[in-house]
Amino acid sequence: MGNVVFVAKEATGDETRVAASVETVKKMIGFGLDVVVEAGAGTKSKIPDAEFEAIGARIGSAGAAAVADVVLKVRRPTEEEIGGYKSGAIVIAVMDPYGNDEAIAAMAKAGLSSFAMELMPRITRAQSMDVLSSQANLAGYQAVVEAAAVYDRAMPMMMTAAGTVPAAKVFVMGAGVAGLQAIATARRLGAAVSATDVRPAAKEQVASLGAKFIAVEDEEFKAAETAGGYAKEMSGEYQAKQAALVADHIAKQDIVITTALIPGRPAPKLVSREMLKSMKPGAVAVDLAVERGGNIEGVKLGKVADVDGVRVIGYANMAGRIAASASALYAKNLVTFLETMVNKETKTIALNLEDELIKATMLTHAGNVVHPAFGGAKKGDN
Ligand code: NAI
Repeated sequence: MGNVVFVAKEATGDETRVAASVETVKKMIGFGLDVVVEAGAGTKSKIPDAEFEAIGARIGSAGAAAVADVVLKVRRPTEEEIGGYKSGAIVIAVMDPYGNDEAIAAMAKAGLSSFAMELMPRITRAQSMDVLSSQANLAGYQAVVEAAAVYDRAMPMMMTAAGTVPAAKVFVMGAGVAGLQAIATARRLGAAVSATDVRPAAKEQVASLGAKFIAVEDEEFKAAETAGGYAKEMSGEYQAKQAALVADHIAKQDIVITTALIPGRPAPKLVSREMLKSMKPGAVAVDLAVERGGNIEGVKLGKVADVDGVRVIGYANMAGRIAASASALYAKNLVTFLETMVNKETKTIALNLEDELIKATMLTHAGNVVHPAFGGAKKGDN
């Protein structure tokens, strides 16, 4: 018998995604692993148990996790779930580790080798394991779909016998993975799109999607990108200049979609109530940064709020609103990472603690918190 992989049904009721797909389960079985899927795990992502079963997985209860060598999840396990895993089990999920020291310590105490997928380094080898990209891409798409659904006008320009409907003006703030997909999606729907970012590399990418780039391009802007490709927190002076430029522009927009994030920091405040007030009647805003404090003043987590006449969409887990696609990509990210842990000859799981992907993502191991960013010493004591 091979090592047992357990695909959990998410314990938090509002999580619609699942950590495996038919394709990835097939792959894992191909590695020689014994896959158990918790009953109903794929239901919200439109994968019935029968589809998993048909390709050779076993369907089990939550209790089946007790014998698992590997647990695949979307979210960090709850205390109760942790209690059901055996010591030494590998748990792979989006762990949301920042500010959650206690939860990390609990996984260490339970003897779990836990891995945070969002800490995957952005290097070529790990591109297919990058959950931030795969989920942000779909979130960017979905943000436009949600905005279009509440916007009471058409997105494209329509010239009809009964008159002309103008194209919607869409402004995307933050042109990373989510923002670029939002730009592309809004363009496909026929909107007139503009975008801003603080990283100079974004300028060309925005232009190549046919959108207009708007930014304060001073010396600080030219140095605003870290070696990892992320944004830096901008100075107060820059933020004031940026706000003045944006204020003018936003007043002419129908839809604003914000996606701006700075790793490890609260989301930058980009859209004030004053700016919302200046927008046209019927304007819509979507804040994809809402779970990190939000880019838009007055945004309400999980709600469509009326803020000074603008409908501000603050849905949490935007990727989860397109669950079937999000799960397919997330599952693929996971199985690609898991594959690096499989010894193809013995068909068993073996952790290479020297591997850079393991080093970057491993939070706990052999009873300790091992990740340096969360209080661990780097070398495992194994
Ligand atoms: P993110 O989710 O951390 O941030 C979203 C965007 O907000 C970023 O483009 C950032 O520059 C922007 N932003 C931050 N503060 C802002 C402000 N005050 N005003 C306007 N915009 C602001 O970033 P994400 O989407 O994860 O990716 C950032 C970049 O990382 C990508 O564009 C790409 O260059 C790089 N990347 C590299 C990958 C690789 O495998 N090599 C994979 C994915 C992304």
